[in-house]
Amino acid sequence: LEDVMIAPSILSADIANLAADLDAISTADYVHVDVMDGHFVPNLTFGPNVVKAVKANTSVPADVHLMISNPDEMAAEYAKAGADIVSFHIEAATHAHRIVSAIHEAGAKAGIVINPATPVSSLEAIIDDLDLVLVMSVNPGFGGQKFIPNSLRKVSQVRALAREHGVSPIIEVDGGCSAANAAELIEAGATMLVAGSAVYGKVDRAAAIAEIREAGRA
Ligand code: DX5
Ligand code: ZN
Repeated sequence: LEDVMIAPSILSADIANLAADLDAISTADYVHVDVMDGHFVPNLTFGPNVVKAVKANTSVPADVHLMISNPDEMAAEYAKAGADIVSFHIEAATHAHRIVSAIHEAGAKAGIVINPATPVSSLEAIIDDLDLVLVMSVNPGFGGQKFIPNSLRKVSQVRALAREHGVSPIIEVDGGCSAANAAELIEAGATMLVAGSAVYGKVDRAAAIAEIREAGRA
């Protein structure tokens, strides 16, 4: 199987020791930053300032996942704060194409996220413009939830849609990813896995990252 990119989520990190918890994942491909606004999802987390703080404390690129209502208004701000990738939910966007352009103009890669109940067909008209598609494999809002098995089928549907369009966005999966399901996710088409509790829930984070990579090669 192809090598997968790993993006540990700092939702499960110790925020009071963020610099140390970023150091601990220096072997990761991206650091995943979960932005929650208390509206689109019940939980509340980070703003653009935290993205700046992340960028100031690690050379690992930042993958920012916006779980916010009205991303039309704020998405580009996260790119300006230094995010390397900014992804927003299609369910929350009013003018998705305009948001993608704004993220690109601000110098970041742009991604769209789909919730577990949102069909892959909702990406048809925009997939050509995306650098990344993020398939949620839990309902967003919290770390440590159980992987929803139907997500595997959606990952292969995203790969099929991308092939049909002759594009190859990063296909990222978020929620309940671990060494236990890495191989089947990669087989279905995933090229990047978010891992919150599967990395930050372990004492040795570098070993946890290596374990997921290794499981993905099997
Ligand atoms: C969930 C977040 C995830 C979360 C994943 O709303 O988008 O990124 O941190 O955590 P785990 O890997 O523990 O499911
Ligand atoms: Zn996330």
